[in-house]
Amino acid sequence: MRSLIDISELTTKEIEELIETADDIINNPAKYAHKCAGKKLATLFFEPSTRTRLSFEAAMYELGGNVLGFSESQSSSAAKGESVADTAKTVSCYADIIAMRHPKEGAPLVAAMNAGVPVINAGDGGHNHPTQTLADLLTIHREKGRFENLTVGFCGDLKFGRTVHSLISALRRYSGVRFVFVSPNELKIPDYVKASLERDGISYSETTDLESAMSSFDILYMTRVQRERFFNEEEYLRLKDSYILTPEKLQNARPDLSIMHPLPRVNEISVSIDSDPRACYFKQVLYGKYMRMALILKLLEVE
Ligand code: CP
Repeated sequence: MRSLIDISELTTKEIEELIETADDIINNPAKYAHKCAGKKLATLFFEPSTRTRLSFEAAMYELGGNVLGFSESQSSSAAKGESVADTAKTVSCYADIIAMRHPKEGAPLVAAMNAGVPVINAGDGGHNHPTQTLADLLTIHREKGRFENLTVGFCGDLKFGRTVHSLISALRRYSGVRFVFVSPNELKIPDYVKASLERDGISYSETTDLESAMSSFDILYMTRVQRERFFNEEEYLRLKDSYILTPEKLQNARPDLSIMHPLPRVNEISVSIDSDPRACYFKQVLYGKYMRMALILKLLEVE
């Protein structure tokens, strides 16, 4: 029995197989409509979500399975003090697979160590978000047709942005990938990420100036400043609009740039960019459902 807590647990071959399955689901949805008949997915969300929870639920329904769960900790027995371990053991009596989001880093790992069924990390604090990364990888695969030799700009809150940490972990395994980290000094990419890139000789640079780096990007991955991770509201208000992508700021961008964002968007991409053919963020939302379908099939060992 396997869980998915961190994207690094998947080999490159496994990621490519998941992409192949997702592509096949897109082309032949009827073939998959009953694959999970009789199976149940539990969505245990201790933190708000629109895309991740609903796409997991849509994924299971489209596989012919059923869904149970909760969307806030206050409606679960966590509000009465139940531990993550006991919740996982309990839900294993009702469901075949669990998707868990939690504000505390490591909580889905604790769940996986105690559950009797596979557990998928649906986002843990500022740490990891492996299924968003699967959505991002399918988007890059369909937009660019490759993962090698790409210059990827990450912009915004690179300190708390768990989707950024997970996507770096996935893309660093491909040759010729270069990272450009654009953030205010207060929200720089963590030192442990940089140390790991340096150790493995992977090219990266840091800047606070988005426009000067724009022309180098194949992919620009914008992120929201994560209000819920700040201890100080004043600091959040000072930093929240550090980067706002507008059509003017794209003047030097490549015609084949892919603009990505895990969403939710607050203010960091002007809505006037939504109609630009380079905007991919709503495609990412849709691709997330297909990759979650592929992942559920894999972890449930459905042929
Ligand atoms: N991208 C993402 O995780 O969105 P939600 O917080 O809405 O699930």
